[in-house]
Amino acid sequence: MQAELICFNPACRTRFKVTDPIYNCKVCGSLLEAIYEPTAADPTELKTRWRARRCSNLPIDQSGVWRYREFIPFLEDYTQVVTLREGNTPLLAAPRAASYAGLDAVVFKHQGFNPTGSFKDNGMTCGVAQAVRLKKPRVACVSTGNTSASMAAYASAAGLEPLIFIPHGNISYGKLAQALEYGARTFQVDANFDQILALVRALADKLGIYLLNSINPFRIEGQKTIIAEMLDQRDWAVPDWIVLPGGNLGNTSAFGKALRELHALGFIDKLPKLAVIQAEGSAPFYDFMKAADHRNFHSIEHPETLATAIKIGDPVSWPKALHEVEHSGGIVEKVTEQEIADAKAIIGLCGVGCEPASAATLAGIRKLVAAGTIRADADIVAVLTGNLLKDPDYVYKYHTGQLDAPDGSRLASTFGNRPIVVPNDPDRIAALI
Ligand code: F0G
Repeated sequence: MQAELICFNPACRTRFKVTDPIYNCKVCGSLLEAIYEPTAADPTELKTRWRARRCSNLPIDQSGVWRYREFIPFLEDYTQVVTLREGNTPLLAAPRAASYAGLDAVVFKHQGFNPTGSFKDNGMTCGVAQAVRLKKPRVACVSTGNTSASMAAYASAAGLEPLIFIPHGNISYGKLAQALEYGARTFQVDANFDQILALVRALADKLGIYLLNSINPFRIEGQKTIIAEMLDQRDWAVPDWIVLPGGNLGNTSAFGKALRELHALGFIDKLPKLAVIQAEGSAPFYDFMKAADHRNFHSIEHPETLATAIKIGDPVSWPKALHEVEHSGGIVEKVTEQEIADAKAIIGLCGVGCEPASAATLAGIRKLVAAGTIRADADIVAVLTGNLLKDPDYVYKYHTGQLDAPDGSRLASTFGNRPIVVPNDPDRIAALI
């Protein structure tokens, strides 16, 4: 199978070799995406083959990414793939979350069940595979935390050197701890995500380091498999809506590309709508989509949200995300800090749990149902992008009434659950119970 990189800009569409270590078009500077020679493979046969691989003991078959390798055929040789058995994340029904949002039912695709606890693992196994193929011994990323945790793990597992750049004081300890434990050289920079991305790009060029941010087209290929796996788990029944949080908008780009391709290849006969949810203080894509002309993208210089994973004011993948949301007939919504915090507690009460950015999904659904955009009987899959334990500090503060929004206002502990301090006395504890 012949793979190439192609410029995403419809007016350019220049093609490059799949082994070119580039992230942007050399002609016009736009984003790149992977494309493949049309395949003669029969969707019905591939569905059966992918399902059968769940029973295989081959590492690449056990991976919820590489199991779908015919859908992301950018490698010629799979022997050097490093898998931590990423993907394989469940679809979880959550009736309590559904009734909170005004829905009959909702299902969470929980990417927090990944090896490093976020959806980044789906893309990272592919990005690292490409780094190995290109013989790049050092890899780098800027991150709000999850990308760095994932890159650290996969790079170390592959014997590469991970270099991580994070905004000083602005990522959760759970994520920082992972990067340190997985052995990444970790640089805390006094700048925000967007500024550090520019810095890392310059450093990567200068030092020949392979960049593994989501502008890397192979990460996007890996994240496509979240959609393939979700549809496989639903026996290829297409939902009405797929709801996800939006930060740098790589995942939105990946989901849209996956859906377009599966549709074109005949795996599905209709497209679900994509609903992208942003945090109010960090919602440049929302503002852009609300503007009438969709011409000028205005980045936000000082994005603010406690959902630090999506605290991004200048999302690099917005041109792709624009295309994908429009193509799906979808929508972009924004939600407040209080809405995120309360939705997160509800997801916890379902026994599911997630990190703050993920909870933007349920908060957004609630708002879209109230507005009549999403029907109560809609078939919805919401993607929870990260694990509850990524940000325990937030959880503790919410439940004990100590969580302050970035503007300094105290958030209500609406569904708070304080720990109770008790003496070592069975009678007094019994009385409390
Ligand atoms: N949810 C979580 C838990 C994330 O970590 C991120 C992004 C997103 C949602 C947004 O996804 O950027 O594809 O729109 N985290 C990145 C990071 C930026 O560095 O870990 P996106």
